[in-house]
Amino acid sequence: MKTALTTSPLKAARFILAGEVVAFPTETVYGLGANVFAPEAIAKIFAAKRRPADNPLIAHIADLSQLASLITHLPSAAHKFIDAFFPGPLTLVLPKSAVVPGIATAGLDTVGVRMPRHPTAHAFLEACGVPIVAPSANVSGRPSPTTWQAVRDDLDGFISCILRGEQTKVGLESTVVDCTVDAPVLLRAGAISLEDLRAIVPAIRLRTVDESEAGSPGLKHRHYAPSARVVVVAHPSDAVPTRDAAYIGLEAPSPIQAKTFKRLMMCDSVDEYAHALFRFFRQCDADRVEVIYCQAVEETGIGLALMDRIARAARR
Ligand code: TXA
Ligand code: MG
Repeated sequence: MKTALTTSPLKAARFILAGEVVAFPTETVYGLGANVFAPEAIAKIFAAKRRPADNPLIAHIADLSQLASLITHLPSAAHKFIDAFFPGPLTLVLPKSAVVPGIATAGLDTVGVRMPRHPTAHAFLEACGVPIVAPSANVSGRPSPTTWQAVRDDLDGFISCILRGEQTKVGLESTVVDCTVDAPVLLRAGAISLEDLRAIVPAIRLRTVDESEAGSPGLKHRHYAPSARVVVVAHPSDAVPTRDAAYIGLEAPSPIQAKTFKRLMMCDSVDEYAHALFRFFRQCDADRVEVIYCQAVEETGIGLALMDRIARAARR
């Protein structure tokens, strides 16, 4: 299959309406989209990504008028989160309506919904005229793509079209909150932080250890992993500089250490660290780096999401 490259949301939408899959930029990471009401198109997402069928997809909407068809009703906490954070990097898990096909949600009776805050994504979703289910546009298990080139590296020849945009702003996937239970549960940390969510709905809670071990659907799968081994360090001096190693963090190693690493990235802020992480992982793989040292940050704000992704990458 030839993969078309375009910067036109309208052209990209035409592929969707023809039952094909399209990669598109959002503020978090690039997504791989299909019409939520087209089970055969959705099957192409799972095939292209080599994604396990028991991992549910997020439905992306252009505006709130598209929400009604996807869900049976809107829980009051979800209403509050929508008022506060839509459009933005937040996915709400809601009670699914019967018209959403089971293949989109791995057979669950809930559906994740998100309204991206990104002009190109918005134009694309509007041109499609239907909600678009989309996981991150990477081969399953690899770091999510934050550039269109990363999408091409993973999926060229396996998808119909890539809608090109800039490197994504946030760099980590959306925050996911289950709103189908009395006290909402944070399923995946992201740029909308736990503190942000708590300010709107104080009852929100983290998953218990039992819930985590039982594995929220999809969360039991390995994610975000480069080929290189990932090691978390508290300080740059804890990293072992070699020609096969890389370092990313807020603080710089000593000048002598710095010269020895094959790749080195210093970030001015935790936001910048989150923005850079997945691209750095992919660059390290391209350079055949064997060990990536990641400096730990405080687990507040987007730091919670950043440490979650680093810990998952380090866990294998
Ligand atoms: O930022 C993002 O969320 C990106 C962009 C493209 O929007 N998408 C993304 O999709 O990261 P994906 O499929 O890579 O991750 C979706 C996560 C998975 O961990 C999945 O298990 C969870 O959301 N999820 C989706 N629907 C769910 C549901 N009904 N119940 C529980 N978890 C759900
Ligand atoms: Mg993903």
